[in-house]
Order: sequence, then structure tokens, then C-alpha cells
Amino acid sequence: MKKINFLNTFKYSSSNIVNTSKNKKCLKNFCMVKNFSSVHVDRNDDTFFKSIKDWWDVNGTMRTLHEYNDVRIKYLKNQLTQEFTGALFENKISNQGVGNSMPFKKLNMLDVGCGGGILCESLARLGADIIGIDSNANSFNIASAHLNNYEGDELKYMQGKLKYYNGSTDNYIEDARKSDRHIKQFDVVLAMEVIEHVNSPELFAKDLSTLTKDGGYLFISTINKTNISYYGMIVAGEKLFGIVPEGTHDWNKFIKPEKLIQILKENGYCLKNLSGVSYNPITGHMDLSSDLSMNYILFAKKLSR
Ligand SMILES: C[S@@+](CC[C@H](N)C(=O)[O-])C[C@H]1O[C@@H](n2cnc3c(N)ncnc32)[C@H](O)[C@@H]1O
Repeated sequence: MKKINFLNTFKYSSSNIVNTSKNKKCLKNFCMVKNFSSVHVDRNDDTFFKSIKDWWDVNGTMRTLHEYNDVRIKYLKNQLTQEFTGALFENKISNQGVGNSMPFKKLNMLDVGCGGGILCESLARLGADIIGIDSNANSFNIASAHLNNYEGDELKYMQGKLKYYNGSTDNYIEDARKSDRHIKQFDVVLAMEVIEHVNSPELFAKDLSTLTKDGGYLFISTINKTNISYYGMIVAGEKLFGIVPEGTHDWNKFIKPEKLIQILKENGYCLKNLSGVSYNPITGHMDLSSDLSMNYILFAKKLSR
């Protein structure tokens, strides 16, 4: 039988972060997360994400995220290696290249809205030290259970690299402040398919900036606000073909890249790259593309103040 342990799961409480490995009660509380409030969390979206049970089924509800994962890993590798070539990032990255199996070794990363942990686990395997945070108890529980379901050396390696936290960015920052801890800033912050779910992209971007080191990097992937994305994502993707479950998205919360780039600029970032992401509904294939009308991904650098 597979061993479940709780070493690497952190859960948000109103007063502090509880390391569940030290608290036996948490074993039975594993699926119970206390109520907390976050300015960023849209309650409708939160209810929706509670219903997802099959995050890790590559043919299930989240199949497009699984398909997308290889594309974003390719994008991350390309962007970060280009950035680090020539100018080493505070000796964080050596002469590792795209071909290296651990290109992200020594980089600290924060994956905001990590969901069931698909991206976090891939990044940990590529060498990153990563914290995945998600405001949804169901997403957090699924991510934690999947991590803790490894065995032997793999379990040890993954637990050494990856930790999860239940809460949003404001809870995470507040927790650090309350416990007088220094707010940890990360080399790389990621928010993949999340900003279209938050209440205010402006407030959310402010927190992302607080959590990014000066000279560090940010990746955001999201959906453009266009007529094409309305018909493609909402009408065809959700209602006609069920590529993603109905109710996943609210078109009003989609954001144009120009607007997002402006918000990021106001929070100290400069854009390094912007790419479209294409999706073939027949084959299910996704790839980077020059077409920004639906999905896009961007890479930005936080300038030193
Ligand atoms: C579409 S999923 C994306 C999951 C993951 N980033 C990926 O791409 O594989 C969105 C996730 O973001 C989480 N989320 C939504 N709003 C959030 C917020 N304000 N703070 C943290 N997580 C949030 C949801 O609970 C959900 O798990």
C-alpha cells in the first residue's frame, strides 16, 4: 500500500501556517481547511474548483492543462536559459542549458494558483525548489496527496523540493508578516491560468511583485479578451464541445495583453516576451504561436528599484 505522509503540506489557519507533519490531528483534518478570507478569491470560481476530482487524469477534466504543461515547460526553459546565458543570475544558474535535465537547479520558484500540482511537480523534477500555493482547499488537498503518494527515493526527492500552502498571495504575505518572518521573495514567480479567476488583477499583480525578487522573473499565462476567445473558449470550448467544464471561465474576467502588461509595468516589471498559445480542438495539440487572440503566455522581469 502506498504511504501517505504529510511532511510537505502546509495549511493556512487564521493565525499561522501549521506544519501538518508535526500535528497528528491534521491527519484527520487533512481534507478540512479552515475558512479564511482573501481579497483575491472569487467565490464562484472557488466553488467551481472544489468540484474537480480528477486533476491528474490526463484524459479527464483537466486534460488541456496536462497538454499545456509541455508547452509551458518548453517556454520557461527557453526564456530562462536565454536570460541566463552570458550573465549568470547571482550564480544561481551555471552553464546549464535546455538540454540539461536539471536546468532550474538552485532557482526558488513560487507557483501561485498551483491547482493539483501539475506544473509544480514538473518544475521540481527539473531541479527547482518550489512552493505551490492555492486558495482552494480541494486543489491544495489533491496536490498534497499526489506529492505524498510517491515512494522511496522519489518521495524523498520530491518532498525535498516541493511544498504546498493553502491560501492566496495575501494570506501568504500576511502569515509571514504576523510571524515576523521575512517575506520570502522568489527568483521566479508563476501564475498560470489564474489571473482570469481573481477579483482584481491589479491587486493580485501587486502581491506577485511583493513576492518576486528584484531582478527576478514572472510568468503569467491567461486568456485574451476578444470576440474570438468568447466564441472559442466559452461557446465552443465549454458549451458545445465540453473541452473544459462549463463554468470554468467568465469572459468578463479575461484580460487583454496590453492591459496586463500595463498593470505589470505599474508593479515594477518589464516585459521580456509575449507569445500566443494555439490549440487544435481536433487533435488536442497545443503549441506556442504568434496568434494572441485566445491563450497567451508572457515572461517579465522585475526591475531593481
Ligand atoms: C485553472 S487552475 C490552474 C492550475 C495550475 N496553475 C495549472 O495551470 O496547472 C486555477 C487554480 O487557481 C486557483 N486560484 C484561483 N484564484 C486564486 C487566488 N486568488 N489565489 C490562489 N489560487 C487561486 C484555483 O483554486 C485553481 O486551483
